[in-house]
Amino acid sequence: MNTFLSRANTIFAFTLSVLASLTFGCFLSTYFNTNLTDVRINTGKIIVKNVPDYSASREKQDLGFITFDIDSDLTNIFNWNVKMLFLYLTAEYETKTNVLNQVVLWDKIINRGDNANLDYRSMNAKYYFWDDGHGLKGNQNVTLTLSWNVIPNAGGLPKIRGLGEHSFAFPNEYAVNKV
Ligand SMILES: *[C@@H]1O[C@H](CO)[C@@H](O)[C@H](O)[C@H]1NC(C)=O
Ligand SMILES: *[C@@H]1O[C@H](CO)[C@@H](O)[C@H](O)[C@H]1NC(C)=O
Repeated sequence: MNTFLSRANTIFAFTLSVLASLTFGCFLSTYFNTNLTDVRINTGKIIVKNVPDYSASREKQDLGFITFDIDSDLTNIFNWNVKMLFLYLTAEYETKTNVLNQVVLWDKIINRGDNANLDYRSMNAKYYFWDDGHGLKGNQNVTLTLSWNVIPNAGGLPKIRGLGEHSFAFPNEYAVNKV
């Protein structure tokens, strides 16, 4: 009985350490991946409106509308330690009140096994492009970048900014609401 238990115990401990080193090996084998790739971004329609926000004061703020293209092959980032990529498109710009404004306009989850060669055309933003003032009208430098979180089976959750960006300007006039 005693020998049976101690043998079971030994096997159990051995199994655990094998599993742990497998996990560690898995972690190490992808640890040095850059998880980087090229991204081409373009914009189509660009307009800005001045509309009341949702707050009680109903103060008018700038709201941007853009359509965009994303072309990027993320296939090489996938390996057996990558469960999914969480992609998001960010707009960055400067205003009189803030040196750096960041707005996430769109996101998408790409699972392993999904087609990771993206070629999206004339996409609409998923989230509203609000400025907290009048910082969009006539803004000459709004920069779009695509970033992703790598969701691995083991290891950290790196946040990667894709190589490549696209800058555009908003028009100097507000678009009039067609109501
Ligand atoms: C790339 O992702 C792997 C997970 O698959 C992670 O272990 C590694 O640290 C990441 N590399 C960088 C440079 O973030
Ligand atoms: C536009 O803004 C980006 C950062 O958001 C900056 O890297 C770039 O130099 C700016 N370009 C111009 C022409 O100001």
